[in-house]
Amino acid sequence: MNIQSKLDLDQRARSILKENDHATYTVPTKGLYPFQWNWDSALVALGICEFDLERAWLEIETLLSAQWDNGMVPHIIFWQNDAGYFPGHNEWGTSHTPPTSGITQPPVAATIIRHLLKRSPVDYHERARRAIKALDRWHNWFSRARDPEKRGLVAIIHPWESGRDNLPDWDEPLSYVDISGVGTYQRRDTQHVEADQRPKKIDYDRYMALVQFGRKHHWNDNEIAKNNPFWVADVGMNAILRRAEYDLAHMAHELGLSEIATSATRRANRLEQGFEALWSNKVGGYVSLDLRHNKQAPFITAGTFLAFFATDQTQPHTGQMLDMLKQWRNKVAYGVPSFDPNHPLFDSIRYWRGPIWAIINWMIADGLYRNGHLKEAQDIRQDTQKLITDKGFYEYFCPLSGRGGGGNAFSWTAAMWLAWASPSQQEQASPSQHNKT
Ligand code: DGY
Repeated sequence: MNIQSKLDLDQRARSILKENDHATYTVPTKGLYPFQWNWDSALVALGICEFDLERAWLEIETLLSAQWDNGMVPHIIFWQNDAGYFPGHNEWGTSHTPPTSGITQPPVAATIIRHLLKRSPVDYHERARRAIKALDRWHNWFSRARDPEKRGLVAIIHPWESGRDNLPDWDEPLSYVDISGVGTYQRRDTQHVEADQRPKKIDYDRYMALVQFGRKHHWNDNEIAKNNPFWVADVGMNAILRRAEYDLAHMAHELGLSEIATSATRRANRLEQGFEALWSNKVGGYVSLDLRHNKQAPFITAGTFLAFFATDQTQPHTGQMLDMLKQWRNKVAYGVPSFDPNHPLFDSIRYWRGPIWAIINWMIADGLYRNGHLKEAQDIRQDTQKLITDKGFYEYFCPLSGRGGGGNAFSWTAAMWLAWASPSQQEQASPSQHNKT
């Protein structure tokens, strides 16, 4: 790539983040996702800090300002009205100000804050301490509300909590959800994106039934833990939370918050022990586990490779996972597909059933770097760079043709470009690779 086109793409990525900037938070993309989304915001801050550190902190602080009293940080914050999105805050029926959804999303924020902190002068330390305390409350909530039996595995109560909304992993656990009372509703997503790229109607009916269950029970954690029809340990959520606990413990220790450092380490150790229950000998990877029906998902998603993101300590199944990554890569033109490209359910352009996400690629590559697998990490970065260079800043990409899908001018794709995939970052192949725990 010549110097000029490299600069043009860096410039374009910054423009996307500025165009999607609503002063205190960034929307994932215009139209399809017009509010603040939890893990989008955290990941977007990683890109923003490349050109505006102060604004990057604000992004995260806005997110944490919507924290519930019980500690949960919600998945959507409806800072404004927008009839172009469904389900809006009335459907969620939460009684929170500002209006929010009733569920959470992967807590990648601690890992991103650790990165911001590394680049911030000491006058940011007080703000960092406030953020660390909020993160501790959030992570404690995960442990209390989503792992009440202290198995070392947290449950999700809706596929949207995983952030990987439409994985085949959810098909069977969702099949137990009663949709008889859902009624009629009007989707908005298919007005922004072609229907063949989005979840099907049966999926949406089940999504809505779960929203209605939570609303009916006033989003009560105990009731949800006992009776929510969907109660699944997602491999991605658990890997990201494990990493987040290590990063939280590290920051808390550095900034003199020793009690938080101790409790985050305790939680991290418990999650580490629980994680092995997600290993499936049958398919040779980490998979999701339906905790209500005690059943592992029978296939592999890119989530299995997030085991590298979770920790920089020796992985029990490293060789097997690296072989699988290589085998997947040989099967497609670009890596890493979100779902096993050898499986009959692989669908190269439908939401989370095959396409590549730059943010997942970043997390996998970051984990591979930290675990010393530099060549594999570099390959993933090069694929991501090529996809964005050739196709644009799409929400996701087809692993066979590279075609872009979902929303265009997508904030987190722009952020991953600026923080990691851009050739401008060549000396610093992964923003958090030096964050050894
Ligand atoms: C959606 O697709 O609308 C979900 O809210 C994703 O979080």
